[in-house]
Amino acid sequence: MSAVLEVDGLSTGYGELTAVREVSLHLEAGEVVALFGPNGAGKTSLLLATVGALPRWAGSVAWEDAPAPRPLHRLVRAGLGFVPDQRSIVSSLSTRDNLLLGSGGIDGALAYFPELADHLHRPAGLLSGGQQQILTLARALAARPRALLIDELSLGLAPQVVERLLGALRRAADEEGLAVLLVEQQIRRALAIADRFYLLNHGVIVTAGEAHEDGGTALEEAYLESMGISPDGG
Ligand SMILES: Nc1ncnc2c1ncn2[C@@H]1O[C@H](COP(=O)(O)OP(=O)(O)O)[C@@H](O)[C@H]1O
Ligand SMILES: [Mg+2]
Repeated sequence: MSAVLEVDGLSTGYGELTAVREVSLHLEAGEVVALFGPNGAGKTSLLLATVGALPRWAGSVAWEDAPAPRPLHRLVRAGLGFVPDQRSIVSSLSTRDNLLLGSGGIDGALAYFPELADHLHRPAGLLSGGQQQILTLARALAARPRALLIDELSLGLAPQVVERLLGALRRAADEEGLAVLLVEQQIRRALAIADRFYLLNHGVIVTAGEAHEDGGTALEEAYLESMGISPDGG
């Protein structure tokens, strides 16, 4: 199978600070890949450099076996979706108008999240935090991207909303062949729907593997170790 997105030896940072050091990863059609790592590990910087929103100091990014188009809007047109960690809905606009800001329209969004139909005419700023993230993901999925990069969609949300969001991603991967790269703090919930994972710390990938081979425990131990904490509390 050939990768939708392939990152090879990517480095980036800010001034003197190297945030991502020679990271390589790949993403294939129909798979959900989780990207884990403690705060400051470089997850956001890696996504930003991958999509071309941060300068690449070294390495390359391929989109469907060719150099990834730049700038970002050309990559988006080629089929990449990106949900940044900054919430990107417009509070003063209705849910409906927020959906119309995307390229997928309203029906495509409602196909994933029919519950938004009840809120189409409300200002998005009056939706709950969970509903706002559902709106954000609905808009991204409605555009029918080939690959979707998502940065901490579920931060601070109720468990049932997190399940709803993650479940929609799994379904899009299974039914549409969407490739998902998901930054997520809730390791177990993410592993429950992911095919593979990468663990990043200090800008490098310290562990990678298959999600189903790992009930969470080994990864959590690696996670704690990567932060310099012994898993057994010692
Ligand atoms: N705009 C910025 N300017 C300077 N340093 C930054 C900036 N954004 C992030 N960093 C630094 O880059 C490193 C990686 O950050 P980030 O990619 O946000 O990690 P994560 O998303 O895993 O929490 C951290 O040391 C962070 O302090
Ligand atoms: Mg981040």
